[in-house]
Amino acid sequence: MEEIRLAELSGEERLRQMEYIAKIRSENDAWEAAGNPKKKYFSFVMGCQMNTHDSEKLVGMLKEMGYAEGDSETDADFIIYNTCCIRENAEQKIYGKLGWLKHYKKINPNAIVAICGCMMQQEGVLQTIRREYRRVVDMVFGTFNIYKLPELLYRRLETGKPVYDIWQDYEEVVEDLPRARTNPFKASVNIMYGCNNFCAYCIVPYVRGRERSREAEAVLAEVKQLAADGVKEITLLGQNVNSYGQTLEHPISFAKLLQMVHEVEGIERIRFTTSNPKDISDELIATMAEYPKICNNLHLPLQAGSDSVLQRMNRKYTKESYLEQVKKLRAAMPDITLTTDIIIGFPGETEEDFQDTIDVVKEAKYSIGYTFMYSKRTGTPAATMDNQVPDEVMRERFERLLGVLNPGIAELHKDFVGREMVVLVEEISKNDPNVVTGRAENNLAVYFEGSSDLIGKMVPVKIVYNKTFYLLAERILGESHGNSI
Ligand code: SAH
Ligand code: SF4
Ligand code: F3S
Repeated sequence: MEEIRLAELSGEERLRQMEYIAKIRSENDAWEAAGNPKKKYFSFVMGCQMNTHDSEKLVGMLKEMGYAEGDSETDADFIIYNTCCIRENAEQKIYGKLGWLKHYKKINPNAIVAICGCMMQQEGVLQTIRREYRRVVDMVFGTFNIYKLPELLYRRLETGKPVYDIWQDYEEVVEDLPRARTNPFKASVNIMYGCNNFCAYCIVPYVRGRERSREAEAVLAEVKQLAADGVKEITLLGQNVNSYGQTLEHPISFAKLLQMVHEVEGIERIRFTTSNPKDISDELIATMAEYPKICNNLHLPLQAGSDSVLQRMNRKYTKESYLEQVKKLRAAMPDITLTTDIIIGFPGETEEDFQDTIDVVKEAKYSIGYTFMYSKRTGTPAATMDNQVPDEVMRERFERLLGVLNPGIAELHKDFVGREMVVLVEEISKNDPNVVTGRAENNLAVYFEGSSDLIGKMVPVKIVYNKTFYLLAERILGESHGNSI
């Protein structure tokens, strides 16, 4: 019953926003009809795929409102920053930009500046903006109400006054708002929002709210529409996709959702992120192995290899159980590539703990490792833990970690030389107009001779050379059948 009520409300909310879109569009049309240049926006996004995808929705709405894309802040009537606060340096970057805007606004006071996203949900940030950047920032909103951009912008345009609108939580999912895509063949689809895991270092549960899943029908409808628009590869997004569906009135597993998405004609590749290792089920592994469109590639964030660090991180798996999952995945899919996230210097991390991380890196053989130095996030349990690791110790361990990760990646790539693979071609190489580039099923970057007519096609190639972070290939003439030759 509850779900139906929410679904109805979502429809109403969408219609409301579409009305604001139409109002702004007609104002912009009139502005142009009077001989003025088309209004432009400039969008800047930081953070994870979730934020990038949110910005696609913001840009989609702006385009519907009649704005064209500007090249930079100085080329825009409306500037929007979608922020991240996962680590301190992400926040510093935004404050740096606001500092610059303070000067710019003196030259161009008519530019409207909006800031939204995760950082805005943090305590104290709005107060800082109101205190120090009052004349710079015209609109502030958070992660729960990005769909309200048209209404908030309309209010700003009508009143000329600053608009601040940050919500603490919101369980509705507003479907079917316009959105822009940067790549015509690849698209992301949200399957869930928020996170309930509360890893001790992480700010996400505080700024993105509780976990809530979209209805499978809504996900499928979006995937079908994307396929009809020519999209071949989709990435299903959630902070922990493995717990998809648990909050729905009729719970379904993530593996079942994957199987349903697999049925959609026209979609050739399915990826997903992120999977918390604690929740990888045998059903998921079997589904990945059995269904050919589900790519042989998995992001499996390790964070740390030591059991005591993992326990204090509240990750709910151990070194042994993690490596067990890796073994199971490789047994089911010998060709699978694994990528990971690792945090160095979590409070209390000892040299011995660090060695456990190195052990796992050596054994798991990642194709990419995203490595981060621990960054204290106010409000998280780790921020007040004893034994914070000094910066110089962190830096030194970080370098040693890269010294193990990078040669491992080169080694892994070597195994692919001589192999035949299918590449979804994305673009002409930036360095050579006669070379195209794309990704193999296992997400490795591949370059080979070819022209722009191959863009968007699934092309069979043979890998001929390992360039450490990417592979060189030769085209094999013949048909591909999905991800196989
Ligand atoms: N939901 C995803 C992670 C999202 S955040 C998951 O569970 O894996 C992306 C990555 O940022 C995390 O995997 C972690 O490695 C890193 N990260 C998160 N909080 C951090 C912090 N306080 N300091 C350093 N790195 C952090
Ligand atoms: Fe953060 Fe953990 Fe949730 Fe990932 S699973 S978003 S690391 S709390
Ligand atoms: Fe993503 Fe950063 Fe928010 S990693 S969820 S944009 S805090």
